[in-house]
Amino acid sequence: MCGIVGAVAQRDVAAILIAGLKQLEYRGYDSAGLAIISADKQLHCLRRVGKVEKLQQAVIESPVFGGTGIAHTRWATHGIANETNAHPHISHQQIAVVHNGIIENHQQLRQQLIEQGYTFSSETDTEVITHLTHFHLQTTETLLEAVQKTIKQLQGAYGTVIIDKNDPEQMIVARSGSPLVIGYGLGEHFVASDPLALLAVTRRFSFLEEGDIAQISRFSVKIFDAQGDPVKRDIVESQTSNESNDKGQYKHYMLKEIFEQPLALQRTLAGRIQQHKIAPDCFPNEKLQGIEHIQIIACGTSYHAALVARYWFESLAGISCNVEIASEFRYRKSVTPKNSLLITLSQSGETADTLAALRLAKQLDYQTTLTICNSPESSLVRESDIAYMMKAGREVGVASSKAFTVQLAALLMLVATLGRQHQLSADREKQIVEALQSLPAKIEQVLAMEQQIKQLAEGFADKHHSLFLGRGEQYPIAMEGALKLKEISYIHAEAYAAGELKHGPLALVDADMPVIVVAPDNELLEKLKSNVEEVRARGGLMIVFADKNSGFKSDDTMQVLEVPHCDPIIAPIVYTIPLQLLSYHVALIKGTDVDQPRNLAKSVTVE
Ligand code: G6P
Repeated sequence: MCGIVGAVAQRDVAAILIAGLKQLEYRGYDSAGLAIISADKQLHCLRRVGKVEKLQQAVIESPVFGGTGIAHTRWATHGIANETNAHPHISHQQIAVVHNGIIENHQQLRQQLIEQGYTFSSETDTEVITHLTHFHLQTTETLLEAVQKTIKQLQGAYGTVIIDKNDPEQMIVARSGSPLVIGYGLGEHFVASDPLALLAVTRRFSFLEEGDIAQISRFSVKIFDAQGDPVKRDIVESQTSNESNDKGQYKHYMLKEIFEQPLALQRTLAGRIQQHKIAPDCFPNEKLQGIEHIQIIACGTSYHAALVARYWFESLAGISCNVEIASEFRYRKSVTPKNSLLITLSQSGETADTLAALRLAKQLDYQTTLTICNSPESSLVRESDIAYMMKAGREVGVASSKAFTVQLAALLMLVATLGRQHQLSADREKQIVEALQSLPAKIEQVLAMEQQIKQLAEGFADKHHSLFLGRGEQYPIAMEGALKLKEISYIHAEAYAAGELKHGPLALVDADMPVIVVAPDNELLEKLKSNVEEVRARGGLMIVFADKNSGFKSDDTMQVLEVPHCDPIIAPIVYTIPLQLLSYHVALIKGTDVDQPRNLAKSVTVE
């Protein structure tokens, strides 16, 4: 996590740094800071707790001038979110450092530096980079050499940028485990965690690779690989659109993104369906020939999309499928069945655990790797054999909404594509395609339920706990509903497969614990109804999102909201929408920070 921006230019860079940080708030928003070297070679540092806006205000009140500077927006790992722990960290009023990642041996290095007479002012792991660089600078000729020596001593993950007020014409940047991109301007250069931060100043980028260190000045960029040898990294033109992304008529990005789902789904389907079939170039068939097993890796909301896909791969395509959380997969020894496809699912394409899992999988016996991703220039896209671009449009709200439903649509297209080699008939493929094509209109109908859901939320906002129930592929949808509610309203929410209710969670059920049930018209409906009766018999209060043909009726113990009838294949996508709206409206009543909930970040680039 954490967002980094740096610049070496002739003009003042404070505004560029702040604008860049604003684009990177999705990586963390606990505190923000910048350090700039002024023309008289003084280091000026400003740090503020809270969002970038606070830092911007501080810069307006005390302007900082200078052409070389670094800036940072933080997601706290070591040390609480206060001003002393905010980046940049400074050594001897000379060296300033911003860092994204975790230095795992920081305690040992801290001890060694204390023995050398260094004083630490923060609890962060980052501060060791600052003092270590200062320490090495006493015996090296250049800042580059000092950083090279420093980096050799670091264990863990870092994307870091270092400046020295005595050498104001350059910055040194290093990457291992945390992404950094160099932006090329005319007589000026930049660095950032994500090209998005720099689109206002350049569209030409080169991506640093693992172990790279770069020396960046106004007129040159010298890159050295992990062995210290000079290397060239391709300069590419960014494909990311720089269109303004404001909230429009909506109060929050999340609401805007919920309402954008019909459009996002249309975009992902466009050009990918031909005559009742998934188009041949949607997924490159030659690389996917003979796939007999699928392993999906993801985190958070993307993991829930993967869980739904497991039901589809096995029931529709007849292909065995495992799903695992990336942070578990990467640290266990797994067996790779023959002819396996590894799929990573990620909105950002930069989730540290998912990326590490992909890298691990490349050393295992997978036939090929595929990512379904929303960020064309991300590490996952660059490092996977096959990339399916989701085209959901930029998602700003930390709690994922449209990325989830678009991931599901993409997975359904993959199920149809791979299913052809297995049990999926042309008729069934046609049915999947038609169901997918009906999605945008169906979702519009569900979005029209907003007022009803808003009223429902009013009876919910004073609750402290809640239970979400579903069966079959609706079980992961219940999980996603519970995740949304806890992320943005801070209400404790758990999800259970409804059949598991009597194995524990039923003990929790009382009038203070609302139970939310997702009940489409499918072959598990009657089983689900029995589970609902179990809750009713224990005095539980239920909210049931049900198909109009399901037979559920509102009464004293149950509020039923009718969801338009849909093909059961796409029901997981359709039933996601009311749960998103419910969480949103509960959060709104509770007055939480919907788009940037406490303690979270959109892109989790540390493990
Ligand atoms: C964070 C975000 C979630 C997201 C998860 C995985 O936790 O807050 O919304 O689902 O990361 O992110 P990815 O970008 O890999 O889908």
